Amino acid sequence: MFNLFKKKQQSTTEAVFGQTDFLGDDMTWRLDAMPGGILAIGGTNSGKTNRLFIPLMIGMTNLRQRQKENLRWGGVFIDPKLSFAARLIYLFTEMDLEWNLHVISETQAVPINPLRSGLSGQKIAEMLVKSLFAGKTMTTSSGAAYYESRALALLGHLITVAMYGSEPCLRKVAQMVDALTLGRALASDHPKAAEALQRIHIFGESDEEEKRKVLDSIQNYLEPYRVDPWEKIFFEPGPFTLDVVRDEGRFLIAAFSPNKVNNLSSGLFLLKSLWYAAIMERMSSDFTGNKERLCLFMIDEFPSVASGNSDGEFLAMRREARACPIFAIQQITQLETVLPTEWKNVLGLLTTHIYLRQSDMDTALYAEKKCGYVEISVDAVTTAPGFSNLFSNESSRTTTRQLQPRIPADYFLSLPDGDAVIVNDQRTIAWFPAAGMGREKEIEFRKMKWPARPRLVHPRDFRQ
Ligand SMILES: Nc1ncnc2c1ncn2[C@@H]1O[C@H](COP(=O)(O)OP(=O)(O)OP(=O)(O)O)[C@@H](O)[C@H]1O
Ligand SMILES: [Mg+2]
Repeated sequence: MFNLFKKKQQSTTEAVFGQTDFLGDDMTWRLDAMPGGILAIGGTNSGKTNRLFIPLMIGMTNLRQRQKENLRWGGVFIDPKLSFAARLIYLFTEMDLEWNLHVISETQAVPINPLRSGLSGQKIAEMLVKSLFAGKTMTTSSGAAYYESRALALLGHLITVAMYGSEPCLRKVAQMVDALTLGRALASDHPKAAEALQRIHIFGESDEEEKRKVLDSIQNYLEPYRVDPWEKIFFEPGPFTLDVVRDEGRFLIAAFSPNKVNNLSSGLFLLKSLWYAAIMERMSSDFTGNKERLCLFMIDEFPSVASGNSDGEFLAMRREARACPIFAIQQITQLETVLPTEWKNVLGLLTTHIYLRQSDMDTALYAEKKCGYVEISVDAVTTAPGFSNLFSNESSRTTTRQLQPRIPADYFLSLPDGDAVIVNDQRTIAWFPAAGMGREKEIEFRKMKWPARPRLVHPRDFRQ
């Protein structure tokens, strides 16, 4: 009854999200801990989207309304399956935040011109090359590797020249490649383009066969972006919208239906890389913009966008830049497939893990490990061997210490909807109600499908 009089905390530094128990008290999440990152891990239909991502965004959006204008967070939201993105657009619209919202989809484009990102030509070239291989396992023969490293260097120089020309954009770069293919020379009177131009000129003296192979490679790198929707987003002149998202606290939502868009993983990978770069720019010595706003980066189904070695690098640095990575994955093996050398690193760099019901044993065992062990005393009866036991059993009772998982792996395979274990510097058991599902329905839902919540092994139970 006291709850009736308990005034809801209207904090500007804490978001409300999740409950301490099935239909229990609200939990609060400190905003200053958000840059540590959150990883939601749960099998399909365990509630990552409905019970974690959407309610978290409701909590964060409510909090945002109470924040001072210069602190209001912004972010990039990627959903390769559309279920999260569509509901997020609805949520922002419901809360009258449409004017803050940019959506890229099959039919809507927002210019994100990489040439106006402030990155060097070489860096942009590198991103384009990596984006081509996003979502694929890379195998390059050593012969091809030679042309590809030349192509990467040349692409960097071409981008540099385009950057100092009129209307810098990737379309200009593509036109320059066409000109080179036809044997025409490039020109620029910008002093900063001089060195790159010189390098391009030297390339022009290579033998014809080699020139053709290198230029073909570059065409290949640009290919994913020549078609819509990417052409309107990344290829044409226009502003670099991600710095507005960062500095003014806007939202950019990538909402594509899978299988409907060509080169989806390349485009999303490029978007991700540019967003990482935009956030990291905050840490450069000449950055003068707003550094206070949190930059959210949410990806439902993270493995479909993870690739290369940029994620670990970014995650190791993002805290100071006030970037908040919030990712969801179904199974650890998915991440292992796309990040064969980096997956452990990436998992370890996300401070808070939320384990929902798991659908595979490997991930359940990983969760068990993350929850730690407890030391307990067990009685052991030992029988001494020897001739005397023909007539009598000589046994002794000893007490030994034994390690047991605090939460056994099996537990994660049978968690009811919404039950979760939060792992960070503490281990917390929590419950996450589904957005839009009422209390009555939750009770009914739970009775219908699951027995009572299993009891959790807690170190307290072993204090002896
Ligand atoms: N009518 C409803 N309204 C809201 N939530 C519901 C409703 N019916 C079921 N749910 C809850 O939605 C959850 C499953 O949805 P969700 O899509 O979030 O899972 P997921 O982990 O994102 O799955 P996937 O990996 O396939 O995307 C379940 O926990 C279920 O209890
Ligand atoms: Mg989902």
